[in-house]
Amino acid sequence: MTQDELKKAAALAALDYIVEGSIVGVGTGSTVNHFIDGLAGLRSRIRGAVSSSEASSQRLAAHGIEVFDLNSIESLPVYVDGADEIDHGFAMIKGGGGALTREKIVAAVSERFVCICDASKRVDVLGRFPLPVEVIPMACTHVSRELRRLGGEPKLREGFVTDNGNRILDVHGLSITDPVALEARINQIVGVVTNGLFAERGADVLLLAGGNGVERLER
Ligand code: A5P
Repeated sequence: MTQDELKKAAALAALDYIVEGSIVGVGTGSTVNHFIDGLAGLRSRIRGAVSSSEASSQRLAAHGIEVFDLNSIESLPVYVDGADEIDHGFAMIKGGGGALTREKIVAAVSERFVCICDASKRVDVLGRFPLPVEVIPMACTHVSRELRRLGGEPKLREGFVTDNGNRILDVHGLSITDPVALEARINQIVGVVTNGLFAERGADVLLLAGGNGVERLER
């Protein structure tokens, strides 16, 4: 199977976790795109979705799925999203697509985070994938300096502006043995909007697609 076929297998497995009659939290990325396409077939069984990016909102709307404002909803039983890396404690690096801030907000509201991945995303230690950090534009140099003090090598994502009008620094060279502590530490740097470590609020369910099918792992 190709990597894209594995992503699709994980994404379609997540349809089993949808709560009938509910609003579904929807992440961002190529794996989630398969999930959105699958969700279209269940349109009549859900009220709609809240989305973590303009791209996902457009794809949901194109399938006729109503997209709600997060502020207008009362509960969000399930949030489905991909990851760039996930460790054995279900902490993740996210934000390869640059949607990390809205992803983290929707994830925080949800009762259950269902992570959909192909098996290449599972790692022992997070950090080989550069850690995305969303930064207020005027603070890029300051935040870069502070991130170097933490042992990383930040690189500005050239030509990219987030849905929130901010910039992304991709931090290379980190070996993240304590993701909860590093997530909190980076959040303390003035000018940081969000960092792509999802450790304090990690995944609850991991649907991991490999050569032998989709493994369903729960924390
Ligand atoms: C988007 O900002 C990310 O957090 C994605 O969830 C992550 O990059 C996974 O993307 P793919 O599903 O495209 O691999």
